[in-house]
Amino acid sequence: MCGIVGYIGNENAKEMIITGLKSLEYRGYDSAGIVLNRGGKLLMRKESGVIANLEKRITKKDFDGNLGIGHTRWATHGAPVRENAHPHLSCDGRIAIVHNGIIENYMELKEWLIKKHGIAFKSDTDSEVIAQLICVYYKNDLVAAVRKAIAKMRGAYAVGVISSDDIDHIVAVRKDAPLIAGIGEGCNYLASDIPALLKYTRDIYLIENDEIVVISKEDIKIFDDDMTRVKREKMHVTWDAAAAEKGGYEHFMKKEIYEQPEAVNQTLEGRINAKNEVKLDGIKLTKKELDAIDRIYIIACGTAYHAGLQGKTLIENFARIPTEVDLASEFRYRAPIIDKNTLFICISQSGETSDTLEALREAKRKGARVLSVCNVMGSSVARESDDVLYTWAGPEIAVASTKAYTTQLVCLFLLSLYMGKTKGTLPAKEYGRIVGELKKLPAKMSEALGTEEHVAKLAKKFFVREQIFYIGRGSDVGTSYEASLKLKEISYINSFAIAAGELKHGPIALINRGTLFIVFATQDYLYEKMLSNIQEIKARHAYVVGIAKKGNKRVKKISDDVVMIPQCADEVASILAIVPMQLFAYHIAKLRKRDIDKPRNLAKSVTVE
Ligand code: G6P
Repeated sequence: MCGIVGYIGNENAKEMIITGLKSLEYRGYDSAGIVLNRGGKLLMRKESGVIANLEKRITKKDFDGNLGIGHTRWATHGAPVRENAHPHLSCDGRIAIVHNGIIENYMELKEWLIKKHGIAFKSDTDSEVIAQLICVYYKNDLVAAVRKAIAKMRGAYAVGVISSDDIDHIVAVRKDAPLIAGIGEGCNYLASDIPALLKYTRDIYLIENDEIVVISKEDIKIFDDDMTRVKREKMHVTWDAAAAEKGGYEHFMKKEIYEQPEAVNQTLEGRINAKNEVKLDGIKLTKKELDAIDRIYIIACGTAYHAGLQGKTLIENFARIPTEVDLASEFRYRAPIIDKNTLFICISQSGETSDTLEALREAKRKGARVLSVCNVMGSSVARESDDVLYTWAGPEIAVASTKAYTTQLVCLFLLSLYMGKTKGTLPAKEYGRIVGELKKLPAKMSEALGTEEHVAKLAKKFFVREQIFYIGRGSDVGTSYEASLKLKEISYINSFAIAAGELKHGPIALINRGTLFIVFATQDYLYEKMLSNIQEIKARHAYVVGIAKKGNKRVKKISDDVVMIPQCADEVASILAIVPMQLFAYHIAKLRKRDIDKPRNLAKSVTVE
């Protein structure tokens, strides 16, 4: 997500901040900006696009200062244009901030600042409220003003703040977003990640949640939320630059798998309010419009298509609207029945996949309303849709999609709940039960990551195989497809995913002694049927690894091995069951010495047909 860099020391500020921002490129960004304090005057430049665009605007000799903060933005609230780039200034121009995270209650704060203080906002971002809030509370004490502001803010943030009145300090705060302070000689640093500082220092302090850090040229003071000074051990970084980019993980894919609890949390955040109502920013569909929709098409490619398969079940169950899922490459070349009562849902991580985009255009030409589920703000799919629901997964760098997939599923849950509630097709009790399950997901995803050791052992046993089958029923069919795709993409093993009921209609002929079957049995209402499938396979001497919920004893008894996912309602099991399978594919690929983040022949964003 966004990157933050800060520096206080000598005239080196501009250079250090720009170099730092460049080292954070891997976090993904679509605009960048910098503000310096030169003798009590704030100098600011920001640009959309690459950092080189920003550099071009600050070549002037007089753009210099001893302290400053910089930012690379990956858009979430507001398009990736210059006005929305950070830093943001308060309306009197005295306070500048950079922010990573999401301010959940920014709408109410914004309204309050406009009504009560007559503040004119310059951007569409949630972040600008932070600068304006601090300004409202600022009485020549920056730390006090920052504390008052954060007391009003809900959400996740790492914020760096400077004031034109204070040429000696940078103030920063952190809650659920990464932040570190770097120790220099006669200078000090601030950053969201270690790579930004590696060229300058390897001695850092990790800033914890709810801490305030006050950085001057001479020292770094860390305080807890009561302003009691915190004594923090220095950390000496021994990682090389590449390892640091990956936060110590060996591959981006592994890092992204482990980011899923946080990504799911972000995607849910601010969208279920205290009254358990689903509030979808970016979705303008009214009850009248929803009632008029008589058919839905979900269109996507690859992993996003697998999310679509789950979306169909959710929408049909909760909102009772007939829904078809199609591959974008197929949809384009058939004659789909579309009119103004058709809702077209487009799922795409990148928002740039050519097949998906062309299918969207075709649907629009035929008069459908287009709603997209997308991870990249300002992407073509997002721009050309009538409504957009963003997956707030943060940039996904590994080619094989992981956190984008699970957050797509979360968005489809939110959307179908919203539709069901608005249309009145989902009973209140059911609605409440599902919302409750969604809220527990981040913690359960962390628990599902705990399967890694077990799964790594299985990978060791099976990495030499040339063929692996995945089967399941109900929502486990979609999970089987996605688990199989993960394995294919990064290990190059030939894997098949089949609806378990179809086994006897052909694929059963492929079973030899020891053939490996991964069998999903996470759906309670289909549990008995899956047990029969396991018996069928075992009778033909296959090797079965079951994937089941904790406590499912019978599957354990009849399988050769079982990976247990946390107890959960059937509906959300697909989000949890994929986690051990992402890790299984990862470990197999690692043992086969594959290029995990960039598998052969594949591209992250396929912009050609
Ligand atoms: C490529 C990627 C897949 C991805 C698919 C759809 O094939 O390698 O991982 O699922 O495109 O991408 P999208 O950005 O539209 O979700």
